[in-house]
Amino acid sequence: MKKVLVAGATGYLGKYVVQTLKQQGYWVRALVRNQKKLSQTGKFGEPAVAHFVDDVFVGEITRPETLKGALEGIDWVFSSVGITRQKDGLSFWEVDYQANKNLLALAQQASIEKFVFVSVFQGEALAHKLAVAQAREAFVKELKQSGIAYSIVRPSGYYSDMSEFMTMAAQGRVFMVGNGSGVINPIHGADLAEVCVRAFQEDVPEVDAGGQEMFSYQRIGEMAFDVLDSKPRFLNIPVWATKVLIALIKPFNKQQADLFRFFVTAANNTEIAPKYGKHSLRQYFLDFALQKDSQESGVGSQ
Ligand SMILES: NC(=O)c1ccc[n+]([C@@H]2O[C@H](COP(=O)([O-])OP(=O)(O)OC[C@H]3O[C@@H](n4cnc5c(N)ncnc54)[C@H](OP(=O)(O)O)[C@@H]3O)[C@@H](O)[C@H]2O)c1
Repeated sequence: MKKVLVAGATGYLGKYVVQTLKQQGYWVRALVRNQKKLSQTGKFGEPAVAHFVDDVFVGEITRPETLKGALEGIDWVFSSVGITRQKDGLSFWEVDYQANKNLLALAQQASIEKFVFVSVFQGEALAHKLAVAQAREAFVKELKQSGIAYSIVRPSGYYSDMSEFMTMAAQGRVFMVGNGSGVINPIHGADLAEVCVRAFQEDVPEVDAGGQEMFSYQRIGEMAFDVLDSKPRFLNIPVWATKVLIALIKPFNKQQADLFRFFVTAANNTEIAPKYGKHSLRQYFLDFALQKDSQESGVGSQ
């Protein structure tokens, strides 16, 4: 039985990866900075996973001196570590690139058999425009040169990010970049986790992955209103105005500006990733609305 270290185990994708590995019989160690998060259901429905984990290593992946022993006895390493909504004041370069590189250095010393890393769909092309893709793809280069067997998983948008449409619709309006005609096939964390675990088992160095269903952004917004049974109201922001907004935010918060640029770029995309999984976005929206209701009434598990 392989022993797997999961870095990013407290995140949306990482929790599903822990769950999938365990369900397939693997031994799992979670590398975390906050152990409590393993016992909590995430705000996008990702499961509590403390009971799936065989061992927890508490360390700061950004500080290599805290990682001594993290890979002891480990065969495979998975990492989805990166900045999404964290507000630690760190840059993509410090986390998405350097922190993962710290882990890779340990993996090299420990003669790890395989390292699976999650980047971004079309990451190589996006690296010229977006700081997050640049940092993740710079790490991909390091991984390819490391001498360790690897697989790079490049997903389209996650269902967790599509929740933004539910949040905006619940507030009475959905902001739409341009006319919302960009298309995407977002993927559920559970479906993507299956792709990630298969990446360990098969000899495929790079895997692009999206979900089974394809939507325009306009359609996703309409679905959010429909699920909430409320009247659709869209506020379309011209692409030029989003560029002005990004330029205005940048001097005050570079990370925020980069993330905003990421979403604007995604909203104009028309490329579809290879399709995996079985989840439906509509069902995810229904579950998201239910979870939000129960949290607001104090019944939720968070
Ligand atoms: N969201 C998308 O649509 C999308 C699409 C394609 C690719 N991706 C890539 O997939 C990756 C994983 O996504 P996700 O939704 O699972 O992200 P997530 O929920 O934010 O999880 C990120 C993980 O990284 C850890 N992390 C972040 N900053 C850290 C720091 N300074 N020190 C230590 N740990 C840190 C988090 O730990 P804490 O829980 O302690 O913060 C968490 O375990 C992202 O980095 C992104 O680049 C995302």
